[in-house]
Amino acid sequence: MVWPRLPAALVPSARSERPRMEATLYICQTCRMGAPVPDDGIVPGERLLSAIQAEALPQGIRIEPVACLSACSKGCAVALGRPGSWTYVQGGITPEDAAEVLTMARQYAESAEGVVPWRERSALFRKNTIARIPPFALTKDTL
Ligand code: FES
Repeated sequence: MVWPRLPAALVPSARSERPRMEATLYICQTCRMGAPVPDDGIVPGERLLSAIQAEALPQGIRIEPVACLSACSKGCAVALGRPGSWTYVQGGITPEDAAEVLTMARQYAESAEGVVPWRERSALFRKNTIARIPPFALTKDTL
């Protein structure tokens, strides 16, 4: 099979000269970790969001709370994305993992195209990936 050539904008050497855009850490704030809503009404996803917001946010990352990343059966879920980069959906996360989620997000934000070498990934990044989604194709209008 012959694969089509990548547009110049998707070739790493051409892309590395462009300024890197901010990465977004999506945090599912509705995750319940398979349990009923606690008496205080604060679900684990909301606790994870609060725990992450209480940490120092690494440069190049913004936080976006969302409702459900469709990974409900695996504990709390987050996703990392950036235009032109791979997107990762991570599950099985607990509120106690807040600092490590930010380590993973920092590694992602510092990477080219969202690809962190396997050996350099934090344990959470290596073990909790549910999905890895390729970058959307860029068009001449988005370059
Ligand atoms: S409620 Fe969090 S992934 Fe569905």
